[in-house]
Amino acid sequence: MDAAHVENDLVNILFTEDQIQERVGQMAEQIAADYEGRDLLLVGVLRGAVMVMADLARALPRHVEMDWMAISSYGSGTKSSGVVRILKDLDTDITGRHVLVVDEIIDTGLTLSWLVNSLGTRGAASVEIATLLRKPEALTMPVEPRYVGWDIPNEFVVGYGLDFRERYRNLRDIGTLAPHVYS
Ligand code: IMP
Ligand code: MG
Repeated sequence: MDAAHVENDLVNILFTEDQIQERVGQMAEQIAADYEGRDLLLVGVLRGAVMVMADLARALPRHVEMDWMAISSYGSGTKSSGVVRILKDLDTDITGRHVLVVDEIIDTGLTLSWLVNSLGTRGAASVEIATLLRKPEALTMPVEPRYVGWDIPNEFVVGYGLDFRERYRNLRDIGTLAPHVYS
């Protein structure tokens, strides 16, 4: 759906579908250059990373494998619960593999710092992070993504995979959710 379909729920549109496609394309170029001559396993973090994974993988001019993990660190609201657990693990043995974790947003960093540590203990040759968005002001854990689409203010955003109570994931653009929706 388009921003016009949920106009009253958004304070503003941060990034349009076109801007997102352009930025994801740039990230793919950089990734392709950095991983030249090496195999690459993209690990998407369900469910939010589905859109960025689909677009990033297709923008890469080379073979990649894709696998998925589901991790829960959030309740159904807008605040982290602080608890991380694996809901779905990888199907792939990552021993000796170059792993690029693909996520749509780093907020506190809790999820990805935990995930990168966890994957590091499985013998991967390398583990890096690509995230479309990052909220630097919200960061409480040490996470250093190698690829970042944009840094954004510490506000709750939806669209392009990002949800509020499982809605707005299918919004083409990314926008700031109006407080009246969640308060
Ligand atoms: P973190 O562990 O605090 O970095 O948050 C990780 C996850 O929380 C993200 O992958 C998202 O699924 C979710 N999240 C964080 N901020 C937002 C937001 O602004 N909108 C929607 N989901 C978010
Ligand atoms: Mg996520």
